[in-house]
Amino acid sequence: MNINVLAFDTLDSTNTEAMRQARLGADEGLCIVAHRQTAGRGRHGRTWVSDKNAGLYFSIVLHPKLETRFLPLITLMTGVAVHDTLQEFGLKPDIKWVNDILVNEKKISGILAETTETPNGLAVIVGIGVNIRSSNFPDEIADTATSIEEQSGEIPPADELANRLTRFCTYFYDILQSDNGTKEILNEWRSRSTYFSGKSVRAALGNETVEGTTDGLEENGALRVRKSDGSVTIIQAGDVEQLRATN
Ligand code: BTN
Repeated sequence: MNINVLAFDTLDSTNTEAMRQARLGADEGLCIVAHRQTAGRGRHGRTWVSDKNAGLYFSIVLHPKLETRFLPLITLMTGVAVHDTLQEFGLKPDIKWVNDILVNEKKISGILAETTETPNGLAVIVGIGVNIRSSNFPDEIADTATSIEEQSGEIPPADELANRLTRFCTYFYDILQSDNGTKEILNEWRSRSTYFSGKSVRAALGNETVEGTTDGLEENGALRVRKSDGSVTIIQAGDVEQLRATN
């Protein structure tokens, strides 16, 4: 994959811009970065706080040669790439299914993968937000979010973070698309996430919630949750939170 970076000062959302460019025929490997987003988006229609130079706001255009059923693995592959990037900055990250990168149980990075039809076929836009500084966290996320600055005392330049991230994304994307690559990415994810098995969780699926213990991933990356009656619910999408003992 040839990486081509387009940098902006301000955008509505790097994902939206990457989607516009993909629809105009952008090649795989186009990366959009911005110092600031005015309409940064998270999953489930949430806002991603995107103050100037407080984080990395990054999106990459992919044209994966993968069976459709394996497309969700792109999010897992990206989680692995973000994990290893943050590790290079001295952090010890964990990956909370499906796309949250945590350090000391607080969220430091999130991933938003979206698809669109383009003249070159289906594109997957993978957006990555990494908190570099914490100073402007709004009250709602102040207790649950963290940043590289808070965890390491360092403030890395966003372009250095972006360079390392593109290197890891390219590396794991090549693995994902190789023979046996889907299994390899599941293994890479397993070795980096405490959520793979044995974690007490509550999963929210629309209006329904499921409580149980994580029990591995399906071949497409869906999470298996074993309930106390022994039955297994497969979570294809939804929010997962760790359940803690109350005594
Ligand atoms: C989440 O955890 O809910 C996903 C957050 C994804 C945020 C990034 S920031 C860069 C890219 N542009 C966006 O508007 N969103 C993603």
